[in-house]
Amino acid sequence: MDIREKMLPVLRPYGGKEEVEALKEVVESGWWGKGPKVAQFEKEFAEKVGAKYAVAVTSNSHGTDLVMKALDIKDGDVINPTISFMATAMIPLWQENVTTNIVDVDPYTMCLDPEDVRKHITPNTKAIIAVNQAGVPAPIKEIRKFYDGLIIEDCAHSCYTPGAGQASDIAVWSLQAVKTMPSGDCGMITLNDEKLYNKLKEMTWFGVSSTFSRVAKEDTVTGKPGYTWDYEVDKIGYKCYMIDITAALCLEQMKKLDKHLEWRRHVQTRYNDELCEHVIRPPWSETVQYYCAKVPAEHRGELIDYLANKNIHTSVHFKPLHKYQIIKEHLTHPDREYPVAEKEWVKLISLPVHPAMTEEDIDYVIYWVNRYFDENL
Ligand SMILES: Cc1ncc(COP(=O)(O)O)c(C=O)c1O
Repeated sequence: MDIREKMLPVLRPYGGKEEVEALKEVVESGWWGKGPKVAQFEKEFAEKVGAKYAVAVTSNSHGTDLVMKALDIKDGDVINPTISFMATAMIPLWQENVTTNIVDVDPYTMCLDPEDVRKHITPNTKAIIAVNQAGVPAPIKEIRKFYDGLIIEDCAHSCYTPGAGQASDIAVWSLQAVKTMPSGDCGMITLNDEKLYNKLKEMTWFGVSSTFSRVAKEDTVTGKPGYTWDYEVDKIGYKCYMIDITAALCLEQMKKLDKHLEWRRHVQTRYNDELCEHVIRPPWSETVQYYCAKVPAEHRGELIDYLANKNIHTSVHFKPLHKYQIIKEHLTHPDREYPVAEKEWVKLISLPVHPAMTEEDIDYVIYWVNRYFDENL
């Protein structure tokens, strides 16, 4: 097979004229900040994932931080899985006097291992971040059997795996540029608790009620409808709300989500059916945020280079978080061992999967992965 000229990316967003039109409409509307598009997107997103409330934020990371601050997480530790993106280990460290209580994962799902969670809960554990790794649901029901504290479900990879966001107290989603429902960069918090919802909403903008919601209400001085300039602030807030420019992109991507996910599952099915026996299939994922295959550890580096030479970009999701020096310095238990993650992560390789791929792109990846093993095993 001829080597393609352009690199096939491992991940990428996919949009077209609908997104361009939606952006044009916002640009021309004269309201670029947080406004009607954000309100519409929050409503539709909450309905989509079966939550009562949704708070649109600038990212999953800021959303998780906001939840922790709203719930006064401090002076303790937060449990999270070692196979995850840096965010889940580091955001606890943004809180006052909190360490990151990283635990091992299940060798198949690569999500939190409930037994390791049970073993490492301390009297100081303030929350658990349960990551739906590559769209596969974290074992929240099992953890609930022995832990009744706060569980934040990290749905960065599970938009939308049916049931995602519903097993936990509160869920945080990522709509970052290469996620299944991408914008440039933003996220969402979903929950059912009205009081916490109102608090989070205000905390997205310095504790102030939003400008948009103050338009068209009664003016406090004139008593007439108009822009009310006055507001109360009774809490410390931040600045992490989504804006209409981003929400317009999200609304268009949400219309295409089912179609995009169907295509991602098609890529997954073809990889599952056609890759050679040296490639261990990942657990089935409804979103296929990543196709995290496993290959013999001694071949992974060479395979990554081989595929790069064929213009196929791959990645690894993820190097265990306990291996980063800065995280090591903030672990609840610096001497803990992670035998499962250590054994498994060296086999991980993420193959390209995104809605911009064609059948020929899928053929191309399958051909060169299989060819590598034909030549080398
Ligand atoms: C598991 C996980 N959590 C959180 C994040 C952070 O998401 P965001 O970029 O929206 O802050 C990511 C990003 O990839 C992720 O993979």
